[in-house]
Order: sequence, then structure tokens, then C-alpha cells
Amino acid sequence: MTAPDEIMIRATQLREQLNRHSYHYYVLDSPKIPDAEYDRLFQELQTLEAAHPALIAPDSPTQRVGGKPLEAFTPVRHRVPMLSIRTETDTSPNGARAFDTQVRRELDLSEGAALVEYACELKFDGLAINLRYEQGLLVQAATRGDGETGEEVTQNVRTIKTVPLRLHGDAPAILEVRGEAYMSRPDFERYNARQRAAGLPALVNPRNGAAGTIRQLDSSLAAKRPLSFFAYGLGEVQGWEPPATHSAVLDALAAFGLPVCHERAAVWGADGLIAFHNDIAGKRDALPFDIDGVVYKINRMAWQRQLGFRTREPRWAVAHKFPAQEELTAVEAIEVQVGRTGAITPVARLRPVFVGGVTVTNATLHNADEIARKDVRVGDTVIVRRAGDVIPEVVSVVLDRRPDDTQPFVMPETCPVCGSSIVRPEGEAVARCIGGLYCRAQRKEAIRHFASRRAMDIEGLGDKLVEQLVDQEKVQGPADLYALDITALAGLERMGAKSAANLVAALERSKMTTLARFLFALGIREVGEATAMTLAAHFGTLEALITAEEEVLRQTPDVGPVVAAAIRAFFQEPHNQHVIARLRAAGVHWPDVARKPMVAQSLAGKTFVLTGTLDSLTRDQAADRLRALGAKVSGSVSKKTDYVVAGHDAGSKLDKAQELSVRILDETGLLALLEDSCIL
Ligand code: IVH
Repeated sequence: MTAPDEIMIRATQLREQLNRHSYHYYVLDSPKIPDAEYDRLFQELQTLEAAHPALIAPDSPTQRVGGKPLEAFTPVRHRVPMLSIRTETDTSPNGARAFDTQVRRELDLSEGAALVEYACELKFDGLAINLRYEQGLLVQAATRGDGETGEEVTQNVRTIKTVPLRLHGDAPAILEVRGEAYMSRPDFERYNARQRAAGLPALVNPRNGAAGTIRQLDSSLAAKRPLSFFAYGLGEVQGWEPPATHSAVLDALAAFGLPVCHERAAVWGADGLIAFHNDIAGKRDALPFDIDGVVYKINRMAWQRQLGFRTREPRWAVAHKFPAQEELTAVEAIEVQVGRTGAITPVARLRPVFVGGVTVTNATLHNADEIARKDVRVGDTVIVRRAGDVIPEVVSVVLDRRPDDTQPFVMPETCPVCGSSIVRPEGEAVARCIGGLYCRAQRKEAIRHFASRRAMDIEGLGDKLVEQLVDQEKVQGPADLYALDITALAGLERMGAKSAANLVAALERSKMTTLARFLFALGIREVGEATAMTLAAHFGTLEALITAEEEVLRQTPDVGPVVAAAIRAFFQEPHNQHVIARLRAAGVHWPDVARKPMVAQSLAGKTFVLTGTLDSLTRDQAADRLRALGAKVSGSVSKKTDYVVAGHDAGSKLDKAQELSVRILDETGLLALLEDSCIL
């Protein structure tokens, strides 16, 4: 049955709108409409398609959710072979010089001839994919396989939100796009955190995550693992004359709506290559995805063709490696650490190893399930991974190298610090020491957190000092800090008269704070910095928050049932009430938050652009808060932008802001502004 014309028109409209919005959201990273509006349009289309299945077009965004599981993958013969690339493992500048020298020799350029132009890119650490578009429509996606024949993985690749199902503009008759499917670090961390919390196996690293997802026969499972894609080259092309340089080819691919990484440059000669390598090495940790090096390609396509291939590798490109993010080392001991909330984390003490740019001596083993699954034992040789600023972790054991006499690790039943029982509630992945503030480890962590920069900001109260204060029983909890005087402090290790006086002064200064900081400092479970700010803004006074019922708490933005229950439980606990009373008696104070409408609109007329990843809140949450204060949140930077908020790996928007001299805020700056606007 065909659908009436107006329904067909509406479905087409919805499809185009949704595809455009998801391009803005995922590829350009600048949403044009709120998520809720997108969801509404999506549902409308889903409803229409359900009633009229004939309306389901191959480029409908509803077709990204995966389909029936396959029995096996179909082989795909590549029309243009998918070649590999030579890897230069000399990570020093010599690696770049050697490539340039070789290129000049092969192009027969004399010593005096002009410099060669190179297109520099990142070497993404994922899985190579060929996307085939016919008349603009994505018809097939395949893995590289052996370069001649790969496997058809169209269903899975469709679930990658940044891969356009239809090209923008005037599409060639046939366009094959080559690039890398990868899993971003935030997506990898989020996915693993969810898996671990559910007691399910975690992914080993983002590359395995990407490869495993693409090779998943059940595409509805693939849809649950968020992948991304970057285009970096061409396969078969018909009905289009590609531009004369590789850089321009990538620009053209971007114009077709394909995601192309912003971290690329066209440079001249070996010095240009080295500068790019250095620049990226400096940025590597802040990138939201793993790379294992950079790639240099001769920019002029005619020269690429002239040099051609050596067996399986092009002569016109090379991958220049960075130091590895995974290395082998030995496990010398396994200990457990007790966190602020009593959470027990097994930690491997390692033979020191240089990985991801630092020397690593400890690596987290996450929890009892993970350690059991990986079966990490003292004496084992393990793969350690440190990527970005993520905590180093043990990826897996090299079983071939396991000595004969190893024993499986057994989680202790009692807390190694206070001797209280360790319990693991049904269905939870985390075991906890039930000692609470009786446990010295938890006390230390609670005090550290209380004093930290974003909480009460007690300058000079470092980890070593907290350790001593608690071990010598000079301080039991946060409230005792304010009873410290110079006499009590003198006599501690590495504490001269001057530092003692400084610390007393810092304690005094910290007493004047804000409600948000105070709430955060209390270390209420589930209440991070952003939630503390929302609560302060919403309730205005501590009394209002303490007396709020769960239903009232739940009306606060971002506060769901779990957070509401944690807040209630905290304030009901007599011990916590006592600590709060003592802190206030010691002189800790803050101005109540004026909840006047005028204050609520304190950012009215200001336009913000958010870019990059923030630590303490998502970009959506940040946007919601800014809007709640009357600000406008826009997707692109212009002269009219008042502030650009730049998180990790801020891309082209940050460059634009610098170009236009728009004020740039980092995360701390944003939080300070939110705090000033809604709390003071
Ligand atoms: S170009 C003919 N560019 O590295 C040249 N490859 O062996 C084809 N890779 O598995 C490769 N980032 O998936 C190229 N910017 C980049 C790349 C890249 C990662 C991968 C590619 C392949 C391997 C090269």
C-alpha cells in the first residue's frame, strides 16, 4: 500500500531534517536544535514508517539501529586494492627526514629544487573501512581484509552516526571513501564503566572495541557500541574529477558531509613534517581518541601517481610512530586501595615501565570481577596501557610468560586499613569497606577531598600532610581541621613555623566559601561539582536543602532518584549533621544564594559556544545551565559570540575564537562564571 502524498512529503522532510541535524550534531559538533526536539522528529518519522513501511528509505536515520543478525559476512572484492602504509618506527625527527630524503630521490629532485609539499594527518588507531556511495547513497561498507578482499559490514557501519547515509551536494556516480572506524576515548570509558558496573566484560582498548564492533554479526549489538569515523582517502571514483592535492581531496570529502579530522596540515619539506610531529605529540594526550603516530603523504596527486607502489605499500606515504601507549611489564604485587566512599580497588604494583609518555608503577585492576576475568597474578607479565590522561590499567596477561608457581588473586574479606568487613552488595560490582569514617583510609580521602581546590580550597594541605594529621590522630574529620593551630602543626614532618602559619591562614581564608563549594566538599555520594552547583542555585540555603523531601529534590535539574536518595540519606545521618554543625560553629560560612529572577537571568543577552569535552559536566548540561541563566547557546563562533567555552580537544571553534578575539573560558572559568551568576 502506498502512502498518501502528504505523508510521503512529510517523511521526506523529516528524513532530510534529521540527517541535517545529526550532521550538525555529530560531524560539526554544533547542534542546531535541542536533543528533545530531535527525538520528537525522530519519533514522528518512526511512527510514519511503522504505519507505511514503504516509506522506509535507505538513508532514513531510523535505519541506523541495526538489523537482523547475519550468519556470516559476505566477501567483498575491492575494486581498487586497499593498501597498507609503511611505518617509520624511528620516533625521532630522523624518521621524518629519512622519508623526505627518499621522496626527493625518487622524484629525482636535485638538492637545490624547491621543498616538497606534504599533507600531514593523524594515524588513527581503529579499523580501515571502505565506504561505497552510488549516486550519493551509502550502498556498502567493507573492511580491508587482505587488501584485495574484505568483508561486507554495511549494517554495522550504518550505526556509526558520523557516517552519512547520503552525501551532501552534487554526488559523483560512484565514490569510495576510505577511512578509519574508531572508538573515542570518552565513548570507550563510558562503555566500559557501564559494563563494569553491570559486572560484564569490559573492552580491552578502543581499537579492539572498534574492531570487535565492526566484526559483530548482530548489528543491533553493534549499535550499542558507539563508534566514530574519519575519512582519509579515496577508492574507486566515477563521475568526478578529484582535486589536484590530497588536502583538497579531504576538503572535498568534508564538503560531501564526511567527517574529516581537523588536526591536519599541509606543510613544506622535512622541517614542516617535524613541526607537525612535534605539535601533535604535544596534543596527543588531549585528543579524544587514540593515535599511534602521524601520517605524511605527498600532497600533489600527480606525484603520488608518479611514485606509485612498492609491492603493497605506497612510496608516497609513511606513518611516523609515537612512543607506544601499551607496554609489557611485570606485576610485583597486588594491593587494594580504599577510596573515599570505602570502595575497594585492586591495584597492581608494577616494575616501572615507560608508557604513554610517563613512568608507570601502578595500574588499576578496577574491581573483583575484572581481576578475576583477566586472572592477573603476582609474577605475571602484563600489558599496561596508558592513553591520554586516563589512569594506567592492566589490559591483559601474557599467559605464555606466566611462571609456574603463581596463585590466583583473592580479594581480602576485611579492610587492610581498618579491619572492618568488606561487603559487596548483591548485583553491585564494587566491594566496600563498611568502616565509614572509622576507617583511616576513608577519613584521609574525605579530608583530602574537603580541602581540594574545587571544594574548600585549603592551600598547602597536601596529601602527605593529611596522612600525618590522621595517622597522628590530630585530625579525625574535616571539622577538626579548623581547630589546628600553629603549635599543633609545628612538630609535623617538613612543617616549619612559616608553613604552619601559612596553613593556619589558608584555613582561615577557606572559611568564607560558597554554598556550592561547601556541598561539594561534604563529599555526598553522587554529588559532584556540577550537581552541587545546581543544588545551591535551586535551594538557595543549606536549610532548604537539608529539609527537602526526596520528591522536592527530584525536581532539581539533573537530580534523579538515585541522587535524591543519596542526598536525603546523607543529611539524615546524625554524624553528618554533627560535622556540619561543627564546621559552621568553627566559622565556615557562605552568602545565601539570592534566588531572585534578576539573578536567574544574569547571562541574558550573552551568546556562548561550547566546544571540546568538559570533565565535570556534559556539554548538554553546561548548555542547559547557561540557558537557565538566560544565555543563548549557539553552534558556531562569530563576532557576536561573547564566550567560547573550550574543553579538552577543542577543535576549529577554538581556532575561530582566537582569530576573532572572542573571550575563551576553560572549564574552571565556566564553573566560576556559573557560580558567580547563580550563587553569589
Ligand atoms: S592512508 C595507501 N591515512 O593505518 C594508503 N591510513 O597501513 C592507505 N590509518 O590500516 C592508508 N590513519 O587504516 C592512511 N590518516 C591515515 C590513517 C591510516 C590510520 C591506518 C589504515 C591502515 C593503516 C596503514
